[in-house]
Amino acid sequence: MSDAVLEAPVLEAPVLEAGELTRHYQVRGQGLFGKPATVHALDGASFTLTPGRTLAVVGESGCGKSTLARLLTMIEPPTSGRLVIDGLDLTKAGKAERAALRRTVQIVFQDPYGSLNPRQRVGDILAEPLKINTDLTADQRRQRVVEIMDQVGLRREFFDRYPHMFSGGQRQRIAIARALMLDPRILVLDEPVSALDVSIQAQVLNLLADLQERLQLAYLFISHDLSVVRHIADEVMVMYLGRPVEHAPRDALFGNPRHPYTRALLSATPSADPDQRRQRIRLSGELPSPLNPPPGCPFHPRCPLANERCHQEIPAALDVPGHGLAACHAVEEGRDG
Ligand SMILES: Nc1ncnc2c1ncn2[C@@H]1O[C@H](COP(=O)(O)OP(=O)(O)OP(=O)(O)O)[C@@H](O)[C@H]1O
Ligand SMILES: [Mg+2]
Repeated sequence: MSDAVLEAPVLEAPVLEAGELTRHYQVRGQGLFGKPATVHALDGASFTLTPGRTLAVVGESGCGKSTLARLLTMIEPPTSGRLVIDGLDLTKAGKAERAALRRTVQIVFQDPYGSLNPRQRVGDILAEPLKINTDLTADQRRQRVVEIMDQVGLRREFFDRYPHMFSGGQRQRIAIARALMLDPRILVLDEPVSALDVSIQAQVLNLLADLQERLQLAYLFISHDLSVVRHIADEVMVMYLGRPVEHAPRDALFGNPRHPYTRALLSATPSADPDQRRQRIRLSGELPSPLNPPPGCPFHPRCPLANERCHQEIPAALDVPGHGLAACHAVEEGRDG
């Protein structure tokens, strides 16, 4: 998370590799005799996660961020694509291997209250994963819980309290503690601070940065708040209608966004713009439905640079030298200004 890390060459091998991950949902069509239809929630995401580093995922509501989170945490299987975690290809993994991988990837949701059982004491909530997955005795479990509570800044006397007795920030600390109980290597953080007051957000973000450094965790950090992303990300992947459209190191993405969609997103958030000189770009039109994505580039109906090719041909994610990846014909053809 520090600048020093960002400048250094990446030495560590990835702990997770996603290749062309897709997730489609079959839904009933509209009306009584509506034909079944397919929601393209995720339509080809490729990236890697590395220990000690944060990949942020941004994009408008419905672009597939939480769907991606559910695939990585094995809550749902992908419709197609490759997912390799800790060197193990999930499509080939047996039941026992899958169970082990489930421990490797843990998730923290936006709303900690909804994900914490209100009738369980904090100590029991945190001990539960150990009870299910390990042979530790009750004493050992208690010791481990107290250890993790210390690490996330929860006082020991909270052990016997119930979730409703805590503030939002503390509840999110409990959710983070629970995610850490089984020594994961990857945390998927789905809008982890979006429900918190700004002052509390900073505390939780600092805690996450701290834990990442200490435990060398890889983070996939989902957020719609670009100023938060600018603060915590090493790399940023921008998604649009189920597809990554730009993927670059943080400073490159914020300093010199290439995809017209990224430019529009940043220009709508002045606080995320380092030099604030950028002209505000307005996105025309609504976000199309993933039930019926437009042909060609999914962004073309709202793109100021779209031409005939964009109406017909889906752009591949191409390497932009010195920058990262962008899936845009205009960038490829050098007509993006
Ligand atoms: N189980 C499902 N069945 C049908 N459609 C689904 C299902 N889950 C998600 N979708 C659709 O897939 C698309 C992507 O949803 P997803 O929740 O991943 O978006 P998101 O980027 O997390 O949005 P938000 O920012 O609002 O959390 C949406 O159009 C959503 O309605
Ligand atoms: Mg979501």
